[in-house]
Amino acid sequence: MSGPILIFDSGVGGLSVVPPLRHHLPGAALVYACDNAMLPYGIRPDEWLVERILAVCKAAVAASECSVLVVACNTASTLALDALREHLTIPVVGTVPAIKPAAAQSRSRHIGLLATSATVARPYTDRLIATFAADCRVTRVAADPLVREAERFLAGEAPDQAVIDAVTAPLWEAADLDTVVLGCTHFPLLGERIVAAAPRPVQLVDSGEAIARRTAQVSQELEIVNGHDESLATAPDARLARAVGTFGFDEPRLLIVG
Ligand code: SIN
Repeated sequence: MSGPILIFDSGVGGLSVVPPLRHHLPGAALVYACDNAMLPYGIRPDEWLVERILAVCKAAVAASECSVLVVACNTASTLALDALREHLTIPVVGTVPAIKPAAAQSRSRHIGLLATSATVARPYTDRLIATFAADCRVTRVAADPLVREAERFLAGEAPDQAVIDAVTAPLWEAADLDTVVLGCTHFPLLGERIVAAAPRPVQLVDSGEAIARRTAQVSQELEIVNGHDESLATAPDARLARAVGTFGFDEPRLLIVG
């Protein structure tokens, strides 16, 4: 099997995993695909979302002729990984909230989970916490407005710090919370702003490195082609072109979903 690495997200959040992917797989051709016509995913019903994710990923896999799919979206991964693996013939790498490393790093044993409302409520997330953070207190905060702020930021607009302050405020209520899981790939793009919102030093943990390491491992068995990085989108426009361009991708081509 030979082809590029396909990275999929609802919007621009998956771009946050591109630097670690390039570090672990230098020269590998990347295709970035996003379903920005249906952004944000985090507020949509599960049944609809599974069908949509399957349809978009099938279309993107066919259009890119990729050899591996990286689902760089927590909302999609915590819901649709099994369905994707069942329906696609290529390896699929998912993104789940970094509860395990956060629990390992927290000294106070109180961690925060900042994610979409879908991700914070998922049984998958409950299982991650029960398995890897059973001895921690976990404060879950639904932070859907930060998805839009990250999108605005990569489109060249300043994120609204008042929104970031208000959305993250529940994390800072207990003085002992020392570690925050960024459980949405959009949120590392706002990392400095989230740190600025915190009234005391906290460490942020995201999944980018783990996804890149896992993709590199899976890719050892595949023939990943080197070359040009491309992008695909269900609603290509100038704002998105600017965002993907910042990460070295060509202007997005229209992805038609059957
Ligand atoms: C969203 O589209 O709501 C964000 C997706 C994510 O969890 O990365």
